[in-house]
Amino acid sequence: MGASLANCYRQGSQRVTETMTSPLVVASQDEVSEVNFDSSMEARIKGILKRYPSPGAALLPVLWLCQDRWGWISPGIMEAVSQRLDLAPAFVEGVVSFYTMYQHRPPGKFLLQVCTTLSCQLCNTSALVDHLKQKLEIDFGGTSADGLFTLVDVQCLGACGEAPVIQINSDYHTDLTIQKLDALLDRLAGQ
Ligand code: FES
Repeated sequence: MGASLANCYRQGSQRVTETMTSPLVVASQDEVSEVNFDSSMEARIKGILKRYPSPGAALLPVLWLCQDRWGWISPGIMEAVSQRLDLAPAFVEGVVSFYTMYQHRPPGKFLLQVCTTLSCQLCNTSALVDHLKQKLEIDFGGTSADGLFTLVDVQCLGACGEAPVIQINSDYHTDLTIQKLDALLDRLAGQ
């Protein structure tokens, strides 16, 4: 099993009670089959590199920057990163495949990251997961037919006291019930 990059309220995430979650901007396979960094991306990569002792140490934030820009990490993006940081392509691919927070395929507009660790399990996450799978007609790793929702399971999101917890894109939704979840998905679908 891969590993989460971080737990306690992961970097860039925020808790919300009413959904204002913005849909992800996700590049198509064709758009990122071959990638060249433009001046804006290049400036941001240079800024990251200044903060780390070696290009290898900057790999995680550079990949995160790419995912923020294109919504996922394609083979073309991995190739561009490996060339820019002068790292072996296999090393970059190994890092991307190890960490569950990197998406290897284009996700839907809303990435449903369901915590399936113990505290959430004790608060009925299994029922939420079963409901989501049935409602969206997908399994973990799948994307709904309308392209809106991708469902993944993740380890502890660091909000155990408010279990069960789902992170949708950058937002946390806590103390969930099936009714709350249905209302949330309906609002997102209607945005
Ligand atoms: S077990 Fe910690 S947030 Fe789910």
